[in-house]
Amino acid sequence: MDHFLYRDGMLHAEDVPISEIAAQVGTPFYVYSTATLTRHFHLFDEALAGLPHLVCFAMKSLSNQAVLKTLAQAGAGMDVVSGGEYARAKAAGVPGDRIVFSGVGKTEPEMEQALTGGIRQFNVESEAEMALLSQVAMRLGKTAPITVRVNPDVDAKTHAKIATGKSENKFGIPIDRARDVYAHAAALPGIKVVGIDVHIGSQLTELAPFAAAYEKVAALTEALRADGHTIDRLDLGGGLGIPYERSNIAPPLPTEYGAMIKETLGHLGCEIEIEPGRLISGNAGLMVASVVYVKDGADRQFLILDAAMNDLIRPAMYDAWHDIVPVVEPAPGSEPATFDVVGPVCESGDTFAKGRTMAAVARGDLVAFRSAGAYGAVMSSEYNSRPLIPEVLVNGDQFAVIRPRPTFDEMIARDTIPSWLD
Ligand code: LLP
Repeated sequence: MDHFLYRDGMLHAEDVPISEIAAQVGTPFYVYSTATLTRHFHLFDEALAGLPHLVCFAMKSLSNQAVLKTLAQAGAGMDVVSGGEYARAKAAGVPGDRIVFSGVGKTEPEMEQALTGGIRQFNVESEAEMALLSQVAMRLGKTAPITVRVNPDVDAKTHAKIATGKSENKFGIPIDRARDVYAHAAALPGIKVVGIDVHIGSQLTELAPFAAAYEKVAALTEALRADGHTIDRLDLGGGLGIPYERSNIAPPLPTEYGAMIKETLGHLGCEIEIEPGRLISGNAGLMVASVVYVKDGADRQFLILDAAMNDLIRPAMYDAWHDIVPVVEPAPGSEPATFDVVGPVCESGDTFAKGRTMAAVARGDLVAFRSAGAYGAVMSSEYNSRPLIPEVLVNGDQFAVIRPRPTFDEMIARDTIPSWLD
């Protein structure tokens, strides 16, 4: 559920008409709903009630400071994957002991930054990383709390580019080698083992792959405890999917996910961490664009928007579906139309949807891409020198621009000219 509904024939973000935001900030733009963000966080938090737990928002999905602050104030921890994300989390007021650091390629400066600023745990992904982390911690006179990310060799049944839990993927250490790797960890002086980490992929639409992975983690917990390790914490990653195509699939709900966690892992007495991104931020955001032209092709109509692949890369990159709806609600019984929905960028990949049957919109109309809050703004670029589009946050009947659109001059001023060209 989200808070983007038609009221009096006009799409609203909570109590704010989208047309009002468009008139003030211009299109294209992203708009997020505070109520949806916090509602989704609380759904996860409540799904794990009864177990000691922490919901760490995977901020790679949406990392605007205002969004982070909203979730931090609701009680969320953060899952970070870079020094930049760590700095953003801290700047949003998240204490170090609510930040977990994931990622396969943590650098020495990133380790130092997190150890100095405070960290709940590093989710370590290789023995080389473990050894370096131990050295860095020793140099700083600290001990680094770690989990080891295991790769359970489970098929997440999602798009190949976002599946991470098969043995051919670069992530984690093979679960069969885990006991050796934990023995190595125990011997390193700068490291303290606190648990196990697993994340098998993103946009999972069934519980079975999660359950298969978590059962392997349960067995590993017992084996590692028998080896003498302290396993108090299980980080179960993120990955629960959302219904991008509303008429089509209905992925499991956070309550069902929570119940499955309790069933597979509840008996172990561990603190549970989860790292949801998309399910918290995805349906909390729209991307709003204007129709620039409707163009007749040889055998189709192109709907040419002022938003492009640089603003929302998911369709080009993952063949992703986003529902595209008109901002002015179509009159009951009005005839739909079929379009190839495209942007102005100079490549054919700049296509949001092919042969999409949708409301019959015309030049000048506003359209909204649903489920665009996750992996939207964060993956945007200035390709074709199209300035990054603004982000807006709505809260009830208020809204605020939380990242302004840079002017052309600001965009150009980021480049510097070497002396020999002056
Ligand atoms: N934890 C780890 C270690 C991850 O790698 C990810 C996502 C998450 C948590 C959050 O997963 P989520 O709950 O959002 O599914 N750009 C792609 C998605 C990439 C996901 C990368 N890792 C997309 O637009 O579909």
